[in-house]
Amino acid sequence: MKKRYLVTAALPYANGPLHIGHLAGAYLPADIYVRYLRLMGRDVVFVCGSDEHGAAITVKARKEGTTPQAIVDKYHAILRDTFEKIGISFDIYHRTSAPIHHATSQDFFRKLNKNGEFIEETTEQYYDETAGQFLADRYIVGTCPVCANPEAYGDQCERCGSTLSPTDLIEPKSMLSGSVPVKRPTKHWFLRLDKHEAWLREWINTGKVDGKQLHHPADWKNHVLGQCNSWLDQGLQPRAMTRDLEWGVDVPPEIPGSEGKKLYVWLDAPIGYISATKQWAQDHGKNWELYWKNPDTRLVHFIGKDNIVFHCLIFPAILKAHGDFILPVNVPANQFLNLEGRKLSTSKNWAVWVHEYCAEFAGQEDALRYNMIKKMPEQSDSEFTWKGFQETNNNELVNNLANFVNRVLVLSHKYYGGIVPSVNPDLPVKSGWEADKAGQYNEELATLHKKLEEMNAHIEHFNFREALRVVMEISGAGNALLQFNEPWKMEKTDPDTVRVVMNLSLQFVAVLSVAIRPFLPFSAARLRNMLGLPALHDNGELLDILNELVEGNPIVQPNHALGQPEHLFSRIPDEVIQKQIDKLNATDLANQATTREDHPATINYKPVKETIQYDDFSKLDIRTGTILTAEKVEKSKKLLKLSVDLGFETRTILSGIAEHYTPEEVIGRQVIVLANLAPRVMMGSESAGMILMAEDADGKLSFVSPAADWPNGMGVS
Ligand code: MF3
Ligand code: ZN
Repeated sequence: MKKRYLVTAALPYANGPLHIGHLAGAYLPADIYVRYLRLMGRDVVFVCGSDEHGAAITVKARKEGTTPQAIVDKYHAILRDTFEKIGISFDIYHRTSAPIHHATSQDFFRKLNKNGEFIEETTEQYYDETAGQFLADRYIVGTCPVCANPEAYGDQCERCGSTLSPTDLIEPKSMLSGSVPVKRPTKHWFLRLDKHEAWLREWINTGKVDGKQLHHPADWKNHVLGQCNSWLDQGLQPRAMTRDLEWGVDVPPEIPGSEGKKLYVWLDAPIGYISATKQWAQDHGKNWELYWKNPDTRLVHFIGKDNIVFHCLIFPAILKAHGDFILPVNVPANQFLNLEGRKLSTSKNWAVWVHEYCAEFAGQEDALRYNMIKKMPEQSDSEFTWKGFQETNNNELVNNLANFVNRVLVLSHKYYGGIVPSVNPDLPVKSGWEADKAGQYNEELATLHKKLEEMNAHIEHFNFREALRVVMEISGAGNALLQFNEPWKMEKTDPDTVRVVMNLSLQFVAVLSVAIRPFLPFSAARLRNMLGLPALHDNGELLDILNELVEGNPIVQPNHALGQPEHLFSRIPDEVIQKQIDKLNATDLANQATTREDHPATINYKPVKETIQYDDFSKLDIRTGTILTAEKVEKSKKLLKLSVDLGFETRTILSGIAEHYTPEEVIGRQVIVLANLAPRVMMGSESAGMILMAEDADGKLSFVSPAADWPNGMGVS
């Protein structure tokens, strides 16, 4: 029987367009995974849709002086079209304003209510007296208690990704009137998360529920487990699942006290995955329950790190509280992508907007996908730069992949009129996999098989960067095959060997036409055309070629007629890149002008310390490292206890950053470590080294890190 999967990608808020951070965080990894599964013949449904409720929407509507409905209609269309243009292959892109979603969410609420999962409680909530409205979530802004971002929302800080409550904010202000809110009593339904803490802890850490092994935690990413455990360690509290709002899913009207109350957006949005599946099933005559209730189905959520607790703790608790539903086997969340050294920011327009990219770089969608995958923030934050984008396009896609494909096709047309030559498989050639290595037709096919299996293993483990590296290795080896054998020199003298080399090169290209599909779907389609091979329908074709190769069979047969070569990728010139950099610089200038107006510069710089000699400096042994684990130190406000991977060893370091960063925020971060500082005992633990931090004039601390993803244990000088 086919393995069954339900794959979700976080529902984006329909309050703005898509930027490259969203793409690299959730949608591209999900798309690669899903396309791969389909190519392996698995049974997959890939769902997503617009998140159209919550204060994210209504606040935006107010800002633009329009209605929430107009906002969600506008951005739903933009998001849907952008996903299509950049090749994200959802089976359905749904929306949470759909009636089927309202009904599904209300049914969930009823069931939870009936099961006694809620407590109804009256508590004091922030209220704006000028606007006459309660201020939940994004209706309230203030300073983030974790990173001191002055523009944190009541539900979340976009700078550090922390999940917050309005009462966590320092100096809260109403988003509506700017006034300082007062507290007023109001009644809400609270989900008894405390009741679910024990099994969630066991599930997260052992993969077991009620004695059944559902997954292996070793397959989950460290930073995901770290964030979950740091939440669990603080103890789960009942969490309000309703809001006083005018926009959203109504609390079922037959429930007493429901008037004026809406479901909390983080209750209804993940249920959006289910309602999307229902709609898809209706449209295709399928059974949605197979995908959500059958324990053989693998549920995988792709999200960014700011969504971790919702998908790993709160939604699973909701599913279990409801009963009958499966739990995710993995939640391979990504970290954040930065842009040219800074956090992406929608409000500051510090972003590369995907729809703008698609308009300005039409036909080059895969060039962006390629760079995003190469820079995917899989384990730690990473960075997009326009220069880097140009480099990966020109040096890797054009010089390696496109060049190889083009040479093979042009030569095949020249030598054989575009007809695949037959071969004597016993003739020796030089292998493309290693210089000066003897090769042979069947051996080279066997190596291709091995490389595909290697790529597959990386994808199965959500290591998409590594998987892409293997694909490019295949292309590199194909190029080397030509380079080492130099068919153009032997064509006249040894046509039989040249046939072997050319036929083999065509097998490499044919393998690539399938292997690049999950990553570069548009190029895969072009490549199939050039080879005169049938279009891919993402339906078992990778499995098919694996079966051929393992039998020692070629992928394209002798006498097959090839298509015409075209350019797979084209060089991106400096001017085009400069235009993009200029655009960002203009944004930066505009932002600086507004900040200067808001806060005139009055920085008190510290005086420079006494001069030292180079010898003094060279005594410092400074290294790169990555924070593996982090926990609060009991009774200390300032200290976090970290374990830091220095490559050659893992150190325990106590760092005075607890007032600036939460443990979950620092896990996975690359840092700079003073490695030869004499060990010191603090609060009962020994600290062996120091993390170097930048400090601003107000005493705020910030990590200094190497360019994204440097190896650990390297020297800094
Ligand atoms: N709209 C949320 C965000 O952009 C994500 C919702 S994911 C879902 O952060 F699970 F709720 F659907
Ligand atoms: Zn923050």
